[in-house]
Amino acid sequence: MSRLLVVSNRVNVPRKRQKPQAGGMAVALAGALAECGGIWFGWNGRVVEAEAMPESPEFTEVDGIGYATTPLTAMEHERYYAGFANSVLWPLCHFMPGRMQYRREDRAGYAAVNQRFARQIAPLLGGDELIWVHDYHLAPLAAELRALGVQQPIGFFLHIPFPSFGLLRAMPDWRQWLETLAHFDLITLQTPEDRRALETALVYGLGGRVVDDGIRLHDRTVRTAARPVGVEVDQLAATAAETAHSRRVQRLVSSLGQRELMIGVERLDYSKGLPNRFDAYEHLLETRRQRHGRTVFMQIASPSREDIDAYARLQETLESKAGHINGRYADFDWVPVRYLHKTFARGSLLGFYRTARVGLVTPLRDGMNLVAKEFVAAQDPEDPGVLVLSELAGAAAELDAAIQVNPNDIEGMAEAMEEALSMPLNERRDRWRSQITVLRANSLDQWWRGCLRDLEVTRPAP
Ligand code: F6P
Repeated sequence: MSRLLVVSNRVNVPRKRQKPQAGGMAVALAGALAECGGIWFGWNGRVVEAEAMPESPEFTEVDGIGYATTPLTAMEHERYYAGFANSVLWPLCHFMPGRMQYRREDRAGYAAVNQRFARQIAPLLGGDELIWVHDYHLAPLAAELRALGVQQPIGFFLHIPFPSFGLLRAMPDWRQWLETLAHFDLITLQTPEDRRALETALVYGLGGRVVDDGIRLHDRTVRTAARPVGVEVDQLAATAAETAHSRRVQRLVSSLGQRELMIGVERLDYSKGLPNRFDAYEHLLETRRQRHGRTVFMQIASPSREDIDAYARLQETLESKAGHINGRYADFDWVPVRYLHKTFARGSLLGFYRTARVGLVTPLRDGMNLVAKEFVAAQDPEDPGVLVLSELAGAAAELDAAIQVNPNDIEGMAEAMEEALSMPLNERRDRWRSQITVLRANSLDQWWRGCLRDLEVTRPAP
């Protein structure tokens, strides 16, 4: 396969000889780069004053992969990252136009960072590589690279949902955003539903025409595809089995005693539907006395995007809901909710998943949700836990053997929790087997190979 230049908003440069963490997008992209060779470009997570911005990206090589990273200036961070990407596109793509906070200066800041990234990427290119761009922060990047004369195939993978055409139009300037997005040779989405939404917008919004492999627009073809991101089942299962015996996981097990654990793990983000999940748990305790003293709900919410108001407010809401439920139901030997606003190593999380009887993945909207897949992969095949999954997560299209819920139905979610907690072993095994079969068929390795094969096809014949 051709050499790669991968671009994503955030790049975590691994330390030399660091043992790779099991699973996750970072591992998939690093795997593709390790096999094909190439460079990964993006933001290194640092924010600097404009005067301290280095001219060119910092270059590091780790285990044969080049990492070209750059900081953001404080203004870029505010306008491009916290502003347009995460206060306009993020809520829009997650069905929440009411949360959008559109400012023209953020829109301009988003365009400017994409322009700067393109200027820094162009000199890194050799001539025949594939350029693979990730996520909503970078929708205008292909247009900017083309303006600099870059000829290589450029593909885009959107990790989050694509909004319906009606919703897209709630964003001022949607037409120009979509026009620039259409400069990619290939746009790959998580699900067929997202792909249809993109194609509809290209047809009705820009006057494109449906052809076999995408949309014909302005005398060129924008190819489209749907390829759900997968997980490395065997690696995850091995890590989960190993860490289940670690001291940390054993401490969790002994703290639970005979009680059953329901677990939720996500970034602290309003799209994840956490307040609804807490309300559903409260409803379970209200309506099912037999769960008192017997069930523990542990919610891990890792800090995320803390300088955006909506995220800080959510933190307060959840602390108050956890306090309220514990205040109402806790006893001298039982605390019903454990709310942890912190980050855990992936290995520990996999061990926690294996210990849990129920995994709660109930976002209001989600592109895929890899926690759902990792929860399934981490289970003990002899005694698997049950996944309760929102029908609005991309993963729901594949995992139809999970108990599917609508996250806006609090009573329905409480019923699903009860069904999961009381599910007989045979049914748990049957459902797990059916889910693991799907996960094996759509592995992470197949995902990136498929995406790159699709992109290779867009290369013009010599
Ligand atoms: O899945 C969406 C996404 O924005 C990814 O691009 C990113 O890796 C993740 O969420 C975490 O977000 P952030 O980089 O804003 O912390």
